[in-house]
Amino acid sequence: MHLHRYEKIWLSFGILSLILFLTIIGINAFGQNHTPAGGMMTIDPKKVDQTPPFDHPGVVKLDDNRYQVAIVGMAFGYKPSQIRVPAGKEIIFKVTSADVTHSFTIIHTKVNMMAVPGQINTKSYTFQKPGKYLILCNEYCGSGHQFMQTEIEVYQ
Ligand code: CUA
Repeated sequence: MHLHRYEKIWLSFGILSLILFLTIIGINAFGQNHTPAGGMMTIDPKKVDQTPPFDHPGVVKLDDNRYQVAIVGMAFGYKPSQIRVPAGKEIIFKVTSADVTHSFTIIHTKVNMMAVPGQINTKSYTFQKPGKYLILCNEYCGSGHQFMQTEIEVYQ
């Protein structure tokens, strides 16, 4: 089969357009699955209490060096109300909200996370010193905002 020169050009153009199109689709598909830095994932905010790990908020030992803490922020407190973790181990905090946007801020640490309905935010932290650390909500969330706090106990 012999193609006319212009047919070849148009065919090439068509193939290039198709490649470009597929590339854009591919980038978008990748973009939607991409997890941004900080490990943001989504959750149905109405089903927080049925969605792992928030169906059992609290501390879970993952292995000898890592612990996971699932925390639900809500007006005006945190679930669980008591958190105890060991010093010198990696603590992976997973935070969401059951109602409006709060924060999960551990004073004197680098842990300062938003607790957002529909999102799971993750932050890893290792406490070097045992003791009690204050956890505060830094996002205005309503009339009880200034009372929204709890404590985390870090043991040796
Ligand atoms: Cu919760 Cu401010």
